[in-house]
Amino acid sequence: MKDARQRASEEASELRKKLDRANHQYYVLDSPEISDAEYDSMFRRLVEIETEFPGLATPDSPTQRVGGKPSEKFETVTFSVPMLSLGNAFDLEDLTAFDQRVRKIAPDCTYTTEMKLDGLAINLRYEKGVLVWGATRGDGNTGENVTSNLKTIKSIPLRLDGDVPDILEVRGEVLMKEEELERLNQERESMEMAPFANARNASAGSIRQLDPKITASRKLEFFAYHIGECSERFAETQTGILERYKGYGFVVVPEHKRAKSIRECWDNIQKIQEHKENYPYGADGVVIKVDEVALQQELGATSHEPRWAIAFKFPPEEAETIIRDILPSVGRTGAITPLAVFDPVRLEGSTISRASLHNEDEVKKLGVMVGDHVVVRKAGSVIPEVVKVIESKRTGQETPFVMPKHCPVCGADTLREEGSAFTRCTNASCPAQVKERILHFASRDNANIDGIGDALVGQLVDSGIVKSIADLYFLTKENLLKQERMGDKLATKILSNIESSKKAGLSRILSGLGIMMVGKVSARAIAASFKNIDNLMGASEDELRIVEGVGEKVSHSIVVFFEQEQNRELVEKLRKAGVVLSEEVKEQPAGPLAGQTVVLTGVLESLTRGEAEKLVEDNGGKVSSSVSKKTSFVVAGADAGSKLDKARELGVRVLTEKEFLELLSQPSTRQTPSLF
Ligand code: IVH
Repeated sequence: MKDARQRASEEASELRKKLDRANHQYYVLDSPEISDAEYDSMFRRLVEIETEFPGLATPDSPTQRVGGKPSEKFETVTFSVPMLSLGNAFDLEDLTAFDQRVRKIAPDCTYTTEMKLDGLAINLRYEKGVLVWGATRGDGNTGENVTSNLKTIKSIPLRLDGDVPDILEVRGEVLMKEEELERLNQERESMEMAPFANARNASAGSIRQLDPKITASRKLEFFAYHIGECSERFAETQTGILERYKGYGFVVVPEHKRAKSIRECWDNIQKIQEHKENYPYGADGVVIKVDEVALQQELGATSHEPRWAIAFKFPPEEAETIIRDILPSVGRTGAITPLAVFDPVRLEGSTISRASLHNEDEVKKLGVMVGDHVVVRKAGSVIPEVVKVIESKRTGQETPFVMPKHCPVCGADTLREEGSAFTRCTNASCPAQVKERILHFASRDNANIDGIGDALVGQLVDSGIVKSIADLYFLTKENLLKQERMGDKLATKILSNIESSKKAGLSRILSGLGIMMVGKVSARAIAASFKNIDNLMGASEDELRIVEGVGEKVSHSIVVFFEQEQNRELVEKLRKAGVVLSEEVKEQPAGPLAGQTVVLTGVLESLTRGEAEKLVEDNGGKVSSSVSKKTSFVVAGADAGSKLDKARELGVRVLTEKEFLELLSQPSTRQTPSLF
């Protein structure tokens, strides 16, 4: 007689099979065979069994997809085969040049074209067919381990069946449908949260959640298009790779098609472009790849991109709309920016209804008036802009924009100084300016105080609790709890973030003060040179100009800033609050090999082993005696043996001694291994 555990184990494995199959039908094939109710009841039964017999829960169980404990922060993973980006082409000429470069090395190659999806690149690592981790692209060499969140995506198989290599990394894109983005943004707006600008941001925001339940609530999908580390030759062609992926149950990149010539690729691109409007996901171009893997390897890669692939980018979309208003909006420095408000239009995956017109002169140059029909687009695919006025559609009813004589927020006089394009509000305590200054100070590049956003700053300034940047450091929990949508937990977190920001260091505080013309880079140079705020406040324009990148205008602006009584008071208040106003002497960046692990093998030509080891260490790297997927690269000399084989097997970059020495003489070049 079987015991209860044995029976439960059999039932659980049967349920898992059925649920996996149902997920596949639903999410991949789009044709479910069982009802939602049946699915739910099987799912509940499996949870029951796994709760009663925790030992029976498997990492690839469908129950592992949702939930899971929120992690504190993401760990990082190092890719043994870096995740490269792609070079861009904008027209047939660029593609022809690409074709010529390719055909010099691979004259008989075939190409493929496929959609360039505009989501978040992901690497999924399967060991013996089981998903062991999944990570974002990060900087291409190390990414964030977001496995728990990826497990909530139903089109990512947790286990691959059949003939699966021991190690297989499947690469592709996570993204959501445009309609899901709209739903999400409506939900966010109803909670007064800033909407996501596009599906890419929304996907990234959803994957980088600390709580997998939030990820699970967003309808994300995964499309496979590439391969990372693999313990064996996986397929002969890109087409073959995608075919095998399909066999495992992946959804592969859409519009995949072979093409014999670049001309044929161009035809495919035209066809895709014609119907891209009907495509439910964000796509920003078409990727052209050499189909044959052996030829891809022969072509290799530069430090950033493969030589065997290129991305054709769709031209920016334009749309016509009507200007309903031009609003003067007051920024951090008091500059009044005319903001065009127009009928919402959909462009490249998001809806836009506003665009900055920058200043009075720009408004004149464009000749734009309220009531005008205009052409708008997204500059660099992100920032909306008004391109031109359609003058033929004028009715004579249009009204010109007039820069206000009084600040629209506080009523103070406005002033346009000679030689400046900007009209400013002259009241430094104008609430609009104060809000913007605080937001600028708290932003990520400056004091980096998480939780201090638009809505909260608006309330704190309007209620008079916060009148300057320094007041942030005197906020109490009671102050915060009086604000809308503020619970004890959030208030505690914000106060702790404010506390940590005291140690941000002089350069961040300095760029956060919003001194005109002092940005992140100059603030860093100034802080490094003057070491503390007292030295800086006592410096003359001449002394300031010694700093690299600080010219006449910047030095003048700094001196004028610290001459103002209210700014000196601000500094004193920050000091009193315990904000560090000096620059800690940081260790020198550890050199071009910082964070890298290097294995030396074989007999080197000019260096002894000891000399080579010292070189690695002097340049910030670590020497290791064995090759693993964590090895950054191997330096191989004559008669290299098993370590070299291992490196090749794992896809770890192998350098000759000469290449190694070249690498050290070019500290800014990141080295990347070839594909396999
Ligand atoms: S292949 C070594 N194929 O585009 C080549 N990438 O701009 C690796 N992307 O980081 C990429 N669709 O995130 C490839 N069909 C596709 C793609 C694609 C989108 C993304 C990918 C990459 C970025 C480069």
